[in-house]
Amino acid sequence: MLQKKIRASRRSLGMNYAIREVTVPAAAAAARGLKMYNFNIGDPNKWDFETPEYFKEALRQAVDNTDNGYGDSQGNLNLREAIVDREFQKNGIHIDSGDVYVTSGVSECINVMMGAMIEPGDEVLVPGPGYPSYEQYIRFYEGMPVPYRMIEEEDWKPDIDMMRNRITNRTKAIVVINPNNPTGAVYSEKELRAIGDLAAEYDIPLISDEIYDKIVFDAKFFSLSRLSSDVPRVILNGFSKVNLMPGWREGYCYFMDEKGLMDEVRQGMMKQFRARICANVPCQEAARASLQGPQDYVVDMNRKLKERADFTYRRLNEIPGISTNRSRGALYSFPRVELTDWKTDKDFVFDLINQTGLVFVHGSGFCQEFGQSHFRTILLPPMKMLAEAYDILEKFMRKHQ
Ligand SMILES: Cc1ncc(COP(=O)(O)O)c(C=O)c1O
Repeated sequence: MLQKKIRASRRSLGMNYAIREVTVPAAAAAARGLKMYNFNIGDPNKWDFETPEYFKEALRQAVDNTDNGYGDSQGNLNLREAIVDREFQKNGIHIDSGDVYVTSGVSECINVMMGAMIEPGDEVLVPGPGYPSYEQYIRFYEGMPVPYRMIEEEDWKPDIDMMRNRITNRTKAIVVINPNNPTGAVYSEKELRAIGDLAAEYDIPLISDEIYDKIVFDAKFFSLSRLSSDVPRVILNGFSKVNLMPGWREGYCYFMDEKGLMDEVRQGMMKQFRARICANVPCQEAARASLQGPQDYVVDMNRKLKERADFTYRRLNEIPGISTNRSRGALYSFPRVELTDWKTDKDFVFDLINQTGLVFVHGSGFCQEFGQSHFRTILLPPMKMLAEAYDILEKFMRKHQ
């Protein structure tokens, strides 16, 4: 009989994904009968955003009409070709279906890419605050995430001087998340070109996460794919947000690397893709259909989100102890909070969950160095629900002033 406890690896126990960490106190609060406001996850389908019917029909048909067997490890060719067209229509760029890799969500792509790029001790520049999976997977592979500051006072624009100052001879890549999770910032073409120039100067590849590229209001989106060819780039995108199919787990990346400087990384990724066999095959068929049918639902989605973003901006700034920038894209706002009665933003968020049922994510979960004294909220709930939640937040904050 086995007597000895089996130890988990240090790297697995070191994983912390703040966005779902808060579900533990939230479940306890719900069990006590509190009405919950789960504002922690950027999942449009939990609110009044529906997967368009024709995507669902494409999935049903794929199940009926295909052999439901395994697919290509790189992704179904017809989906990769649809992605080539999509990227041409959106960004005016020419890529080849051979440059595209289909993954189980962007999450898998981040994991596989970091797995292919990082040797212990390698550094990757990441936005601070930024989407936590980057930092988590860089650490998992024993690399070092090095944050560069997003400047709150300047509409969360990237601090390119800090980016430059933090480059070392171990810097393996620079990550850009645009539109940004958690700040709601959309970067200007000028800022992105400056990042491109810096990357070219130091010969560092760029990784650009553009999963929110069509969720933009009050700003103009510029894709890093449109830079000239001096810097090798990997662009990540997916179907969870713009295409309203988060549970179907489909994402992709493509390489823009004329000189083939990243060929070995691609090889390393491909070896991992073969080992995990393939992304969900019927859902790839639905993802293809979602790119090729009518796109008017996106206009409707952005109209609703803009109204909610405007309300969030106005209402949060009325609450004592809270201030926020205007969200220009993605699904989030990242307000600053005065920590009067709490040591950390995590204490604040957990106290708020326990006392009121309002579930946000602590800012330090998006960057220890530059995320503290903040929390992330979402723009997704209907107006009535947002109003109710922020009334509760105001009452809570007034009690603690
Ligand atoms: C910037 C960013 N990248 C990637 C992801 C993961 O997306 P997926 O559902 O495609 O794994 C998210 C999810 O919130 C995100 O915000």
